[in-house]
Parts: sequence; structure tokens; C-alpha cells
Amino acid sequence: MTSSRFIGSANFGFAQYAQEEIRRLFPGVKFRYLEAGEVFLIDAPAPAEEVTAALLEHEPIFLRHIQPVQHELPLGKTADDLMRLIQFMQELRPFAAGEKVAVQARKVKEVKFAYTPFGVKDALDPILEQEQSVEPVVRGADKIISVYLTDGTCYFGISTPYENLSDWNGGMVRYRKEEEQVSRAKFKLLEAEERFHLDLSQFRSALDIGAAPGGWTSLLLERDLQVTAVDPGALHPSLSGHPNLTILQKNAGDVVFAEGAFDLLVCDMSWSPKQMSKLVAELLPALETGGVAVITVKLMHKKPFQTVRETLENLEPQLVLLKAKQLFHNREELTLYLMKEEEL
Ligand SMILES: C[S@@+](CC[C@H](N)C(=O)[O-])C[C@H]1O[C@@H](n2cnc3c(N)ncnc32)[C@H](O)[C@@H]1O
Repeated sequence: MTSSRFIGSANFGFAQYAQEEIRRLFPGVKFRYLEAGEVFLIDAPAPAEEVTAALLEHEPIFLRHIQPVQHELPLGKTADDLMRLIQFMQELRPFAAGEKVAVQARKVKEVKFAYTPFGVKDALDPILEQEQSVEPVVRGADKIISVYLTDGTCYFGISTPYENLSDWNGGMVRYRKEEEQVSRAKFKLLEAEERFHLDLSQFRSALDIGAAPGGWTSLLLERDLQVTAVDPGALHPSLSGHPNLTILQKNAGDVVFAEGAFDLLVCDMSWSPKQMSKLVAELLPALETGGVAVITVKLMHKKPFQTVRETLENLEPQLVLLKAKQLFHNREELTLYLMKEEEL
């Protein structure tokens, strides 16, 4: 086949940027919104394997999730749809025995169905388990069945979590809120850890710039790091007195550290990217060679690609970009994952 169809998802309001990035890879591509500003059909003028390979190699910043569309089934929005889907799966039998399979169903928000997306999983799981000897799972799947329900059409595809860019349904990362959680911002660093395959516990000593109220700091402490938290604002009282924590209640422009004091630098300052990146650049001697930086970049006036370029201009050549990604928990911002290179 010389063309292929996918469904792409981005954070609300950022789909146009994801489309721009995909268009750069496939100039003849066509898009149609399924959910305004967020979820869209992609008709690419290339075979599915080629599209997937290109998206994995040049992963778009704003493409949160992608699923292939290999089959399109008619929907009446009644319970009969589930029977048809069951029958379809019974005929398809696409899995090897013992594979872990997750059914991930979504629907367009406005349209009412006689069943919920979860009802699709409930209907298919027993068939997969009893008739096809696969293990139905929610996370950690070998394969994902993606089902997207719209007014009249069910878009169906099977792929790996890696090919989908995320193993969460639609890339919507749902962490459970802990009772003692200091701030929701903690989810951003948790998601960065997962998305960038970053094992935070492998680091020794972290500098957290713009740390208050302390969600990121608390995660770094949970990962057993020594943490230096810098913020003119106060950290949550539950963090004070932690033996591995040094709190500097100061502006990041007023602190100085020994060269190579840290192997991890994180910064979640809600500030203009220009000012933020200049401040971070001044603190970079404190990051050892080979050290890693995770930095949130505010998208102040939209123009996100220009913002990323300008931010990187201030951080390079000391830091090299490993990945830029708008995470599900990023609102009007995105996250940079960088590494400090050896000086030439
Ligand atoms: C979004 S909050 C950080 C949330 C934090 N990551 C967490 O997990 O709880 C942004 C913080 O950046 C701090 N900030 C802004 N400008 C700063 C500066 N020049 N130096 C240090 N901190 C700054 C603010 O005081 C604010 O507490």
C-alpha cells in the first residue's frame, strides 16, 4: 500500500503544531479533526511502516500519541456494535498465544453511545483470554488494540506501545494522586522519567531550580538523591529537615556552586524562556560532564518552535538536546531533556 491512515493526538490546542511537524516529514499528508484541536486523522502518502519509522526517528514534539488505522467498522452506537467487534476479533485472531494485549478504547466527546469505551475492553478481554490464549492487561502490553469510536465509524488498529509513542490510552498519562503529594507538578517529572527512559535513581546529586513548593524535589528525594532546592518561595513544610535536602531560599541568579557539584539539573521555573535559559546557562558549570538536565519551557506567546530554538541557543553548546517533548502534564509548556557534553 502506498498510503496509510493513523490517528494522532496532541494536548488540546497544540494539534496544529503536531500536524506541522508531521507535514515536514510527509509534505503530501492530509489531516481531518476528530476532536477539535486535539485528535485528528492522518492520511499519509506512504506505507504505514515508513510513516511509523519516520515518526520514531524524528519524533514530533507535539505528537503525544499515534495509533494505526488498519480497519474501519460501521457503528450504530447501540450494544450491537460490541457484538460486531467481538465477531471481528474472532475472525482476525492476530496474536500469538501468551502475548500481553491491552485494549485501549476512546470515543469522541460529544457523541453518545449505548456503551462506554471501557465496555469495549470488557467485551473483548474475555474473547482474547478464553478463545485466543492471550493475557489481557492494562499496562505493560506487548501489543495494543486501539479502538477510536466516532459518530458512525470505529477506527481499529493493532500496534506496539513503542509504535504508539506511549503505552497510555491516547497518551493520556494518569498517575494516582498521593495523599501527601506536595504539588501536581510532581507528575511532570514522573512523566519525563517515563517518557525519556530516565532512571532518576541513578543520579547522585540534583540541583532543582524553581523548586517550590517541592513536588520535583520530593520525587528526587524519593529516588534517594542529594537535592539542592533553589527558590525565593518556600518549600512545603513536610520537606523541611530532610537529611538529603539543602534549601536555598533565593533567586537562582544569586546562587553559586562548585564546578561539577551536580550530575542532574532540573528546572521548572514558570518564567520567560529567554530569562530562564540565561539563568540556567550561568549555572551549568555546576553540572558535571555527562550530567543530565530536565527543563520545562513555557510557551508564552505560542510560536513554540521559535521558543525552542531560542532556548537552545542559550543552552548550547554546553548542553545537547536529547529530546524535546510536550508531555501530557505540560500545559502551555514543553519539556527538554538534555545532556552536558565534554568540552572540546
Ligand atoms: C511551577 S513552580 C515549580 C513547581 C515545582 N517544580 C514543584 O514540583 O512543586 C515555579 C517556581 O519557580 C520559581 N521561580 C521563578 N523565578 C525564579 C528564579 N529567578 N529563581 C528561582 N526560582 C524561581 C517560583 O518561585 C516558583 O516557585
